[in-house]
Amino acid sequence: MRHFLTLKDFTKEEILEIIEIALEIKKNLKNKIYNKELAMQTLGMIFEKSSTRTRVSFETGMFQLGGHALFLSNRDIHLGRGEPVKDTARVISSMCDMVMIRTFEQSMIEEFAEYSKVPVINGLTDSYHPVQLLADYMTMVEYGIHENAIVAYIGDGNNMTHSWLMLAAKLGFELRIATPKGYEVDSVILEDAIKMAKKSGAIIKVSNNIDEALYGATIVTTDTWASMGQEEEKEARVKAFKGYMVDGLKMCLAKKDAKFLHCLPAYRGQEVSAKVLEDHADIVFDEAENRLHAQKGLMVWLDQQRDK
Ligand code: CP
Ligand code: NVA
Repeated sequence: MRHFLTLKDFTKEEILEIIEIALEIKKNLKNKIYNKELAMQTLGMIFEKSSTRTRVSFETGMFQLGGHALFLSNRDIHLGRGEPVKDTARVISSMCDMVMIRTFEQSMIEEFAEYSKVPVINGLTDSYHPVQLLADYMTMVEYGIHENAIVAYIGDGNNMTHSWLMLAAKLGFELRIATPKGYEVDSVILEDAIKMAKKSGAIIKVSNNIDEALYGATIVTTDTWASMGQEEEKEARVKAFKGYMVDGLKMCLAKKDAKFLHCLPAYRGQEVSAKVLEDHADIVFDEAENRLHAQKGLMVWLDQQRDK
């Protein structure tokens, strides 16, 4: 049995296998051929933070695969009132066939997975957002921009940045990260990525220099400056990130036909200008839709692993 807690635990081949299943399932759905691999299965979805895309995509995806999803907000279950994680894990995994968790600490989902009898999926923690990166890479494949990609990430060194680090390090593409001083990526995660990059041939560059990161990039991406849980820092962050908005001038530094990606929700006028977001709306909203297909691929793949 496998869990999906971080891309660090996955090989390049496994990541590509998941994407392949996702692309197939998406094609089938568009042709009204319905994959029912998870018939009679249930997915427990524990949310300790808000969500639009993650909730809708997992719930819809599970239904489309013939199963059922339960939305479990921590306001409604005893976890939010102090029932231990390990007890919650033992109970929910005795009734559900898979569990998805969106929470704060990565250690919480690790503990949950330790006590779970069924696969656990990371639906975002403070450290990582790996399901988003499956959708992002799937989108890169669909747009034919995955080969020789040079990805520039401009903004906060957060869960999205860490997941980009893992994806680049595993798949072997070039990733340039530019963050303001004091908002760099986690040094342990960076070290891990650099070690893995040596094997895969990935090029990883981390700096505070936006222009250097953007010059010749084929894909530009960013994320909110204040993640969930950092609401109180919002004002200070807007000041610290001055000059980091991805706008038309910055896109000019990237390759002529460079694409823009954003995991959403986007804050126009902060990390991205309204014009850049709207100019790239086709790919950004395909990226959002691909959350559905990529996660269906992931759940089918995880289900296959337990039969092995
Ligand atoms: N990108 C993403 O995970 O969106 P939600 O927070 O809406 O789930
Ligand atoms: N970094 C953001 C991603 C939202 C999908 C957050 O954690 O809030």
